[in-house]
Amino acid sequence: MSNSLPVLQVRDLSVAFGFDKKGKPREGVKPLQVTDKVSFKISQGEFFALVGESGCGKSVTAMSILRLLPQPSAQIVEGSVLYRADENASPVDLAKLPLADLQKVRGSEIACIFQEPMQALNPVLTIKKQLLEVFKFCGIKGDSLATIREMLASAGFKDIDRVLNSYPHELSGGMLQRVCIVMALLSKPKLIIADEPTTALDVTVQAQVLAVLKDMANRTGTAVLLITHNMGIVSQYADRVAVMYAGRIVETGAVRDVIDSPMHPYTQGLLAAIPENHSDMRTMKSIPGSVPHPRDFAKGCRFADRCEKCTEQCRSEVVPPKQKAPGSSNHEANCFMI
Ligand SMILES: Nc1ncnc2c1ncn2[C@@H]1O[C@H](COP(=O)(O)OP(=O)(O)OP(=O)(O)O)[C@@H](O)[C@H]1O
Ligand code: SF4
Ligand SMILES: [Mg+2]
Repeated sequence: MSNSLPVLQVRDLSVAFGFDKKGKPREGVKPLQVTDKVSFKISQGEFFALVGESGCGKSVTAMSILRLLPQPSAQIVEGSVLYRADENASPVDLAKLPLADLQKVRGSEIACIFQEPMQALNPVLTIKKQLLEVFKFCGIKGDSLATIREMLASAGFKDIDRVLNSYPHELSGGMLQRVCIVMALLSKPKLIIADEPTTALDVTVQAQVLAVLKDMANRTGTAVLLITHNMGIVSQYADRVAVMYAGRIVETGAVRDVIDSPMHPYTQGLLAAIPENHSDMRTMKSIPGSVPHPRDFAKGCRFADRCEKCTEQCRSEVVPPKQKAPGSSNHEANCFMI
């Protein structure tokens, strides 16, 4: 489910590390900018994926939405994060919102699901107690236990009493992550940020957990920002995708358009590396090299060292602004070769 009204619009967001309590660069340290003018928008109810290899800046981008980056070291040095609860609400810039107001958005309007469900849950409280806590924390009215039971059933749990009375260590990783999905959705948030929620799980359980996330978000009309390094997951679950490389978004579009006609050589490389796309494994190609560290970001195209199509211009000139794919209003990428 998706329509055109953005629930979140990230505009030209740049994050740097290396600041002190006064917001000044730490003495003797030049702040290190790790993301550069990141822009994307997520519509109400949309399943949006942010994809890229390790170290691209996916988590820094996701964490900066709710200003959850380590303080005082990390700062948003440029850009805005416009959040709009519904069509009648005016957008607010989460990057500038006073902390007390931001706290009201965290958890109840924008919820997070992390890679390790164990870290999100309290080991000494039963699942029931922890789910009931959400009602208190978010001030939700109504028959809380009935709602929790209904949501756990939607998340595929059969023996709900056993789950409710369990402590986290008594459930498997996949079950815990489904509990975290229920926990995130209890407050009926407008957006869930899920940072690699299935990376720590077996492949078969991964599919089950992502199916539950997609299905429950669909039913509740909640938008999802899924962070992943896996293009296979993107193609299976997401409506739209932004491809990130070395702190920048290099391509954005509807998943079908990006998968069928990738414009940027990096996206083409990620797609060529999906095992499921190759009946003969000999045709599978990995991208040589690795993502550069932010201190080594080049002046020109940051993918140059790994790109087969690289020319002298790619190294010496600033990469051109994004260009749209022919006949498409929202599939775009930036590369000298487009
Ligand atoms: N607390 C920090 N202090 C300094 N640099 C950091 C910090 N956290 C992240 N970085 C740097 O920011 C860059 C982006 O990191 P980020 O964690 O966003 O990558 P990622 O795309 O989420 O990777 P992964 O797939 O491994 O989770 C990396 O170069 C990383 O070293
Ligand atoms: S700008 Fe040049 S180096 Fe960068 S992706 Fe395009 S062709 Fe490759
Ligand atoms: Mg990460």
